[in-house]
Amino acid sequence: MRLLTFWGLISLSVLSWLPQFALASVLAIDYGNDFIKASLMKPGVPFDVLLNKDSKRKISSVVSWKRDDRLFGQDAFNLASRFPADTFSSLKLLQAAPFDAPVVSYYSKVATAEVSESERKTVSLKRSDGTEWEVEELVAMQFAYIKHLAELVANEKVVDVIVTVPPYYSQFERDAVADAIEVAGLRTLALINDGTAVAVNYAMTRTFATPEYHIIYDAGASAVVATVSSFTTAADPKTGAKGTHIAVAGVGYDRHTGGIEFDRRVREILVEAFNAKHHKDIRQDKRGMAKLWREAQRVKAILSANTEVVTNIESLAWDIDFKTKTTRQQFEAACEDLKVDFTKPIDDALASAGLTLDNITSVILTGGSTRMPMIQAALKEKVGLDKIATNVNADEAAVLGAALHGASLSRQFKTKPIKVTDIYVHDIQVSYFAAASSANARPRSITTTIFPAGSKVGTKKVLTFKRKEDFTLFLDYKKEIAPGFPTRMLEVELGGVTEAIANLTERGAVDPVVKATLTLSESGFVSVSDAFAYGEIKDESISGKLKGLFGGGSSSDEITTESADNTPPRDSSTDSESSSTSASSSSSSSAAAAKETKPAAPVENKIPLSIDVKFTTIPPMTVNQKKKSRSRLRAIDAEESAKTRREEARNTFESYLYRLRDLLEDEHSDTPFKKCSQTKERREIADKLQESFTWLNERGELAETSQFLDKRIALETLERPIIHRYQEIEAFPQALNNSQMWNWSTRLFLQEARQNLTAEIAADLPSKWTKEELDGLEKTLREHESWLGEWVEKQKSVKPNEDPVIETTEMKARAKVLENHLQKLYRRKVPKAVKKPKTTTTTSTAAEEPLETGSPDGESGSEDAPEGFGDEGSSENQIPLQEEGDGEREHDEL
Ligand SMILES: *[C@@H]1O[C@H](CO)[C@@H](O)[C@H](O)[C@H]1NC(C)=O
Ligand SMILES: *[C@@H]1O[C@H](CO)[C@@H](O)[C@H](O)[C@H]1NC(C)=O
Ligand SMILES: *[C@@H]1O[C@H](CO)[C@@H](O)[C@H](O)[C@H]1NC(C)=O
Ligand SMILES: *[C@@H]1O[C@H](CO)[C@@H](O)[C@H](O)[C@H]1NC(C)=O
Ligand SMILES: *[C@@H]1O[C@H](CO)[C@@H](O)[C@H](O)[C@H]1NC(C)=O
Repeated sequence: MRLLTFWGLISLSVLSWLPQFALASVLAIDYGNDFIKASLMKPGVPFDVLLNKDSKRKISSVVSWKRDDRLFGQDAFNLASRFPADTFSSLKLLQAAPFDAPVVSYYSKVATAEVSESERKTVSLKRSDGTEWEVEELVAMQFAYIKHLAELVANEKVVDVIVTVPPYYSQFERDAVADAIEVAGLRTLALINDGTAVAVNYAMTRTFATPEYHIIYDAGASAVVATVSSFTTAADPKTGAKGTHIAVAGVGYDRHTGGIEFDRRVREILVEAFNAKHHKDIRQDKRGMAKLWREAQRVKAILSANTEVVTNIESLAWDIDFKTKTTRQQFEAACEDLKVDFTKPIDDALASAGLTLDNITSVILTGGSTRMPMIQAALKEKVGLDKIATNVNADEAAVLGAALHGASLSRQFKTKPIKVTDIYVHDIQVSYFAAASSANARPRSITTTIFPAGSKVGTKKVLTFKRKEDFTLFLDYKKEIAPGFPTRMLEVELGGVTEAIANLTERGAVDPVVKATLTLSESGFVSVSDAFAYGEIKDESISGKLKGLFGGGSSSDEITTESADNTPPRDSSTDSESSSTSASSSSSSSAAAAKETKPAAPVENKIPLSIDVKFTTIPPMTVNQKKKSRSRLRAIDAEESAKTRREEARNTFESYLYRLRDLLEDEHSDTPFKKCSQTKERREIADKLQESFTWLNERGELAETSQFLDKRIALETLERPIIHRYQEIEAFPQALNNSQMWNWSTRLFLQEARQNLTAEIAADLPSKWTKEELDGLEKTLREHESWLGEWVEKQKSVKPNEDPVIETTEMKARAKVLENHLQKLYRRKVPKAVKKPKTTTTTSTAAEEPLETGSPDGESGSEDAPEGFGDEGSSENQIPLQEEGDGEREHDEL
């Protein structure tokens, strides 16, 4: 039985695990500077934006500490003015930023946290207790928080995530996002440009009879981005199913204009007002500045609808109450110069797409800043009112689009067929030194734009080099992607060239070359994904000789383009060695296969080369750094849950104390507690209770979880006998009823069985039982009856506040013995006899039965120990328990 249950469990858990595995949910995160929005795709869970614990649809992008308590979202945001040094907001500004980049000093103007330089020369933030956290780690905490929220909804582990990024994000910033995802314990399904995600959301509910161009205009907290996309709905030539193709045609952006800058300027107005009025510099006071930052956001929001706002902050700093009025005019004057920055991205996007406004059907507004009248006015002026569309949810379109795209990538969901072709906005070039023409010549550097701005993502290019020695490829941005950011992305050394070329040459290859594959992945990561030496082994035939002139002896290297399959976001850039070898060995084996099928063609030969990636500028986190960060985060989680457990233990203990006190102090004398306890016991509990209250007051703050448990157990030990008595009193009638029922049933059975036996003996028919068997049952019955009679009598004289002399568990166990004995005989069948529940006996049928049956003895033996013998309920052969008044009557007699 036990074994069976064990195996039952195993197979059950395997079964329930498989479908979960096959239908893993997908999390989408729109990580903004001010707010995080998230969405979960899971079968059976309605597709919507994920709510946080306060049912908010958007979650402030803030993590903060109130002493030892870590907080997220609005709770964290609210702490900024009390704990300015422990509140970390606007982290998006700092992703991958070199410590000396201008954006870091800008950050210090808008945020209160202290920045410091990390090991990787990027930014860390310092808590007031001196601990430092890298930007990636703080972002990872927020991702982990979202993961936790999602897991509560999904009711399972959530691992796969798609995160939105601005299209202008460089390799460095994309690495920073991907590292944070990993440190949070998630897996990057993809990164998607946020304008593209909005386009997916837009296409979700629409079809496009003729191709249309739209501009997704996104004015957020830290940037303004315009994305020109084409939308085409067409039937799939193979399946006939209609699908929409979204192709990003151009992007324009300004990564220095956005809501934050407005907030900063509004705060400047407030700062000036304060300083002028009170002749002090509020900039010297961190808390005051944090309060003003919040006030600036409020003022900005109110000025969207009103023409003036009154500020009234009590005790802003130095106990000064600050009162001032800000008008929309003042605000707009202070921001006048930004107007053009808000519309220029539209021109840039159109220019890069090679289109004009005439080609655009509508300009779709998203992002919180598009609600500002000033921006709306600027846009109206730029594109005309009739083109402005507010038909997507400005806050949620990106995250919902990202979730849908993530679901289609994971291939586990049936989603509306939407194909996305995105582009990369920066020029990427590759350079290398030309092979030296003579020993003394200075090596000539050759530079090629390998992925020009506007290149489709998910593309591979193969470069061919006429090289005989190891060499290095330098991958760079052609232009600075943001002030203070480096242009150098990767240095990739191709190794083993000398040996490979020598090998090929020795085997007769004509002009062997080096081929390197550069990949621009769907998520916008650039890498050298494959490299090998290649040569055709010379074919001696004439046609072979003609074909064999590979590369024509020209010294120029060539580039060919292939479309990449859906490469994983970060390819081989982190562990290039292993992945490149495996990739190349598989391609060489396919080459070998090709050779077999075409024996006449020249023999192709590929020898894999090693790919050694160096990050000489802003390195992503190394595997070890990520591990370390992951365990730092885990340590906090563990600490927090230990704290939660301690608090729970403390609360349980405290409420237990109050409950006991109430029991003791209850004035009624007939409460179960009073009835079932003795004065001495109550006094003992009262003493211990007093002691516990004192301990809780004096030591409760510092005590450990186990102490709360121990103290509670000590009290419970005193209370337990009382509870036990009460429970026994409650359970007794039922147990007695049960016992009597079985003795009643047994007696009934015996009576009838003996009658039948006598009749059968008289008629010389086979019987189901022997006399001895019936006597045995009678003996068991008598034992049961006499035990019951004796102890029930004794129990009657026991007072409620004394321990019972018989336990209901024993009564049940004894009744079970009788029941089992009865069942054993009762279930025995005469073969083929139709058994009826015993009611009244009709002797006429009884006489026929044995005639139909063969050898009752042989059969009865096998029926003797049926499966599940003695189980309660279920068995159809079980003795039906009486429902009529008999039981009741028996009970009353006792
Ligand atoms: C854009 O509009 C111009 C002028 O209206 C037209 O000539 C051109 O074909 C359009 N381009 C596209 C791609 O629709
Ligand atoms: C060339 O390499 C192949 C394996 O790639 C190896 O089997 C062969 O021995 C090598 N030949 C020479 C001459 O090094
Ligand atoms: C005893 O059990 C019978 C049958 O389950 C029920 O009808 C009867 O009310 C019970 N009596 C008591 C005192 O529990
Ligand atoms: C059950 O056992 C009690 C002894 O406690 C006895 O008095 C009573 O008669 C028995 N009832 C039946 C129906 O046999
Ligand atoms: C006694 O015999 C009758 C008639 O065959 C039958 O219905 C009844 O179940 C028998 N009683 C017992 C206790 O087996």
